Parts: sequence; structure tokens; C-alpha cells
Amino acid sequence: MSEPKVKVKRVLFFDSGVGGLSILREVEKLNPEIESYYLFDNECFPYGNKSDVFIIKRVRELLSEALSKFELSAVVIACNTASTIVLNVLREFMKIPVVGVVPAIKPAAQISKNKIIGLLATPGTISREYTKNLIRDFASDCEVIKIGDANLAVIAENRLSTGHVHSESIAKIIRPFTQIPPDERPDTVVLGCTHYPFVKDVLQTLMPGVNLIDSGEAIGRRVKDVIANLPFLEVDKKNNKAMYTGILTSYEERLNMVRSFGFNDLEKF
Ligand code: DGL
Repeated sequence: MSEPKVKVKRVLFFDSGVGGLSILREVEKLNPEIESYYLFDNECFPYGNKSDVFIIKRVRELLSEALSKFELSAVVIACNTASTIVLNVLREFMKIPVVGVVPAIKPAAQISKNKIIGLLATPGTISREYTKNLIRDFASDCEVIKIGDANLAVIAENRLSTGHVHSESIAKIIRPFTQIPPDERPDTVVLGCTHYPFVKDVLQTLMPGVNLIDSGEAIGRRVKDVIANLPFLEVDKKNNKAMYTGILTSYEERLNMVRSFGFNDLEKF
């Protein structure tokens, strides 16, 4: 007798590196029916300091290839640096829902008491029109102090792979917040890069009492709405799959890391 089939909705998470796993873990909490595919573009990591033209071309190519290879229910661009520039382009040619991850400016503005918000993100995300519009539309009553840094994602990436984190480098990066006189500092800081939740404990120690807001839970809810009416796919067994581009140095380290997020395999895309 053949085994009964398992019903899943297959969601592809995309990021330049491991950051999207912070989104994936929140999405999975609220959406137990999903089978997660995770594609990270380690070949071109980090995206934070790459040009708009480069990111648009690269993400469009990878996502078109993913669409032709797999039967997908939906895609989550689990990267602020990519989402703030490619969402429209992707939605033009993809026939499935595309959920983007962008800085959580709106909830931060709602929660802030002193109406001074910090935005910590990559240089790309900070400079985007998309981000400027979010601030104009949702935080016009706030002062927004921005830090655009390309290295913090690298520090978080290394921490997840090796377990080591260099707190002094993080302290230096966030100095534009911490060197402000105490009563003029942001009481709320947006973690505008999906890598940053993996160094949230260090950030919190360096900025005690500050609300650190990321987009994870909100994306979990968004995915729930978006996939609610999509048909199930029938598979023999749920098989969460992680994939990398290019050459992966320290494969074993990465494999162990993705296993801790529930993936069985780590394979070349
Ligand atoms: N995780 C990405 C983000 O949310 C980008 C990190 C990078 O590649 O610079 O912005």
C-alpha cells in the first residue's frame, strides 16, 4: 500500500545570505503547512554595497531560474536591500505571490514615545526611494536618524556560521546612535536588514531600554494571508531544502547551520 501524500504550500525564501532565516523562522511559526525552500546568493554576498542595477539583474535572473526549476506557491524576498528595489520588477513577471521584506518604519513610529527613531540598515536600503517614501508616509511626525552600514550583515553572517561575534565592531557601527546625548537618542530602532536579528542580543546590550523592531512576525502574518487561498501541492514527504549559489567555503559549517533551521539538505542551486 502506498504512503498517503502530504499537503504543503511551497514557499521560496530568498536572501543574499543567512539573514532570511530570521524571517523564515517567524513565517514557519505561523504557517505550519509550508514546505520551505531557502535560496541564498552567497556568490554575491553582501548586497548592501551593490548597485541597484546589479541587484535588479541578479535577483531577476535567480528568481526566474527558481520559478522554472520548482513548483512554488509563493516567494518571500527576505532581504530589505533587494526588496526595496526589485519587488515591482519581480511582480511583473512572476505569476505567484511575491512578499517583500522592508524596514518596519510604520510600527516603529507607532511605538516610539519620544518620536525619535533609528533606522539601521545597509547603505543600499537607506538610500532607496522606497525607504524615503516609507518614512514620508508613516513617520512624518518622527525624527529618523539613519545608519547605513555594509559590515553589520557580514558580522551577523559570520556569527551564524561560526558562533563568533565581534561586539566592539558593532559598538562602533552604532555610535551615531549611542554618542547622541541620552534624551535625544532614538527610543526605537528599526532593524532594517534581515541579518540583524541574529545580533539583536548584542545590539540590545549596547542600547539598553531601546525597542528593537524587526519585520519577522509581520511577514509571518502577511504570508498567512497571502497563501490562505492557494491550492495545496501533494508531496510524498515534506522536504525543506536550502540552496546556495557559486562556491561555498566551509560547506560543513553551513550545512550544520541550515540543519538547525530544519533543513535536511544544502545543495548547489
Ligand atoms: N539580509 C539583507 C537585508 O535584509 C542584506 C544583507 C547584505 O547582503 O548586505 O538587507
